[in-house]
Amino acid sequence: MTRYSRISGTGSYLPPRRVTNAELAADLASRGVETSDQWIVERTGIHARHFAAPDVTSSDLALPAARQAIEAAGIQAGDIDLIVLATSTPDMVFPSAACILQSKLGIAGCPAFDVQAVCSGFVYALTVADAMIRTGAARKALVVGAEVFSRILDFSDRTTCVLFGDGAGAVVLEASDTPGILASDLHADGRHVGILCVPGTVSGGRVLGDPLLKMDGQAVFKLAVGVLEDAARATLAKAGKSAADIDWLIPHQANIRIMQGTARRLKLPMDKVIVTVNEHGNTSAASIPLALDASVRSGKVKKGDTLMLEGVGGGFTWGAVLLDF
Ligand code: UT7
Repeated sequence: MTRYSRISGTGSYLPPRRVTNAELAADLASRGVETSDQWIVERTGIHARHFAAPDVTSSDLALPAARQAIEAAGIQAGDIDLIVLATSTPDMVFPSAACILQSKLGIAGCPAFDVQAVCSGFVYALTVADAMIRTGAARKALVVGAEVFSRILDFSDRTTCVLFGDGAGAVVLEASDTPGILASDLHADGRHVGILCVPGTVSGGRVLGDPLLKMDGQAVFKLAVGVLEDAARATLAKAGKSAADIDWLIPHQANIRIMQGTARRLKLPMDKVIVTVNEHGNTSAASIPLALDASVRSGKVKKGDTLMLEGVGGGFTWGAVLLDF
């Protein structure tokens, strides 16, 4: 019998400190950086984001999200036999945030590793976990996206620091006789490393180079809309479906205008698109599972709905996962 994987529970967590555009603009003004609520809303759709306290790490955010997903799946942490955690802001250089999360969950023994594909991290992680379940390497996987992007923001650069936030989302992905995940499509093009990166590194006990996020927003924007359409169409083709079969598009939450552009190209009305960027900002690898969990808990996404998850970001990376929820 063919083996599939299916999401059996979702969870998410946002750090309690919610920062509105007006609050952020006032803080930036005190540093001589000019921005406004109006600019941020018009250009991005973002109204607020959450920032973690200085001592809070990605695995700290991942823990309550993971616990919620485990509870929603009706299983125990000890049942988990694989942890795949997508992050570009891990707690340490090593070991992985996945291993730290495993220990915080009070479990041991199952494989645990991080996936680093920036804002495409969650669709990469989900695809890896799906493949491992299909081959029999795991039965109950915890797949997490968790980020503290506030740590790598340059608060003197208004073109980037207003865009990002912190948070975590998680799903439990279980072996199933019926799909579940229908198809996925992942890509990368390393020729575009420079358009979105944190170029610094740690060497000889020092930070070498610039450890803060750099982005050519317009270049990312142009590439994003095209590849998101291509990935969605490729994934639909693999599953033998059309865009009309999508109940909900859950794209990476970076900019409402990118989501509108993608929906337009796929001929999907915006009322089929899950939007959380207004309240979360861009939480990179956490954005898709955060949006998924919010839409499940609000009752929008229901059992049996067909979902298209789409990520795009640094690398350049992009990809999509089509699934029956
Ligand atoms: O998660 C990975 C994926 N990342 C993304 O998807 C981000 C993709 N890019 C974007 O979302 C958009 O390109 C941005 C939101 C980053 C920028 O929007 P834009 O419409 O492309 O603006 P722009 O870069 O063309 O800038 C327009 C103007 C500039 O001023 P001038 O040169 O026209 O005088 C900027 O200096 O807006 C100015 N500007 C700002 N003004 C007030 C840039 N940032 C700000 C700001 N507040 N925060």
